Amino acid sequence: MDKLEDIIKNVELLIDNSLQTISKIKNLDELEHIRVSTLGKRGSISILMGLICGFSSNDARKKIGLTLNDAKITISDAINVRKIILEEQILNERLGYEQIDITLPVRNERVGRIHPISQTIDEVIAIFGQMGFILAEGPDIENDENNFKALNFPDKHPARRMFDTFFLPGKRNDSQLLLRTHTSTVQVRTMLIQNPPIRIISPGRVYRRDFDMTHTPMFNQVEGLVIEKTINMSHLKGCLIEFVKTYFEIHSVPVRFRPSFFPFTEPSAEVDIGCLRNNGELKIGLGTDWLEILGCGMVHPEVLSNCNIDPSKYQGFAFGMGIERIAMLKYGIPDLRNFFCSDLRWLKHYGFMPLDIPTILGGLSR
Ligand code: PHE
Repeated sequence: MDKLEDIIKNVELLIDNSLQTISKIKNLDELEHIRVSTLGKRGSISILMGLICGFSSNDARKKIGLTLNDAKITISDAINVRKIILEEQILNERLGYEQIDITLPVRNERVGRIHPISQTIDEVIAIFGQMGFILAEGPDIENDENNFKALNFPDKHPARRMFDTFFLPGKRNDSQLLLRTHTSTVQVRTMLIQNPPIRIISPGRVYRRDFDMTHTPMFNQVEGLVIEKTINMSHLKGCLIEFVKTYFEIHSVPVRFRPSFFPFTEPSAEVDIGCLRNNGELKIGLGTDWLEILGCGMVHPEVLSNCNIDPSKYQGFAFGMGIERIAMLKYGIPDLRNFFCSDLRWLKHYGFMPLDIPTILGGLSR
């Protein structure tokens, strides 16, 4: 029969050996193997426990039991500590080879392109945003009141024929439904719910019954509206000249304000920019030709009254322009209809990189 001291010695040896082996183990599988072979049901500790039955003295049994329990705790602690160290090592190795350099450029071919209309809207928002304009939106389906009447187009007024309107069946608030022909509807909506000062821009889709090289039944406009006590025509001019220069990214574009007519502005003007037409090529900022790009004017007092703003206290200016038109001019896109063809080859050619978000500081179109 084993002597008590022999067993105790064996246990000490087992602890020494196990701790040495554990400290050198390099992977979790080996560690698990050691755990099973020492602490498992048929492991060394269990086998040594079995020897207890050979002793009749309670003291001897107790001593062996306590020694083995201590051994179990010591070895299991060492295994746990080693496990934590190994897991940390494995994680660090993974972090080493799974590193991602987020400053690397993305793979262009995987992310698609931003449509020139979205790009142009973002550029316009960046420019006017810098001037303190905030974004306002309105619905495509409107009524006669917001599209015409409140904007000083009385019933049967000949100016209504400026637009070939798509009328819809039905009425809202007793007023004929239609697809809005211009974004000036958002002027009305904003003035009705907001007290001056007002400074908004409103991009969005508009609809007119027209279709050829330069007209599509749906296109995009952006509207601008400023209402304050002392706003005057020189503010309008300064604001639009600044816009034109920034948008076309040309320091010296000639800009001309030509008298015009809109029922909702008085005086009204159309804005032309200087350009050069040569063998079908168009260069903006040079030459002696003029190109119309937008309509504008001082908000008609009648429109202010219609929208519950006192024209003896407030005045303001408004402008509206076609998004596709200014996009075609800036980016040399020849045919309007292609904007709406969903031709991916066209989009690949004229589209913009999704992560190049236009800003005044970072650059509009790079
Ligand atoms: N709504 C006009 C149009 O569609 C443009 C415009 C807006 C003109 C604001 C003057 C002021 O042609």
